[in-house]
Amino acid sequence: MVRDILRMGDARLLQICHPVERFDTAELHALVRDMRDTMAAANGAGLAAPQIGVPLRVVIFGVEHNPRYPQAEAVPYTVLCNPVLTSLSEQMDDDWEGCLSVPGMRGLVPRHRELHYRGFDEFGTPVARDASGFHARVVQHECDHLDGILYPRRIRDLRQFGYTDVLFPGQVLVDD
Ligand code: NI
Repeated sequence: MVRDILRMGDARLLQICHPVERFDTAELHALVRDMRDTMAAANGAGLAAPQIGVPLRVVIFGVEHNPRYPQAEAVPYTVLCNPVLTSLSEQMDDDWEGCLSVPGMRGLVPRHRELHYRGFDEFGTPVARDASGFHARVVQHECDHLDGILYPRRIRDLRQFGYTDVLFPGQVLVDD
């Protein structure tokens, strides 16, 4: 079921989310299904449970390669509960991000270039991967939501924050 996506200003987006304690339950499967439907309907690259008002440490993300989105390399569809991120280098890269909870805007955000992430899928199966570039960026963005952090807080220079159609006229860009 497609759910409403909370927008910046809603206090529920600022909560520290709780860990998932039981896997492979009807409730968790229903949550993941709703998140997937909601992300697809919004054409997003990722979604975190608090964005639909559920304060649990669950994120989903995934991008199929699409030539319309040249900046978005393919990222495997992933369900990640209770994620733990470890950066693999000190290197940070700046790139433009959007968020379904901050519609119509983009900001330049520094993120770790390479990281290891681990957690569990909705069945409780461990997930562990190294990621870099856009994939690593999406994971960092989504996991920030679980600690109540929206990307504008990560922008170093607020002059590099604005409306997508003004910053990038004529381009179609995915939100995450
Ligand atoms: Ni977001």
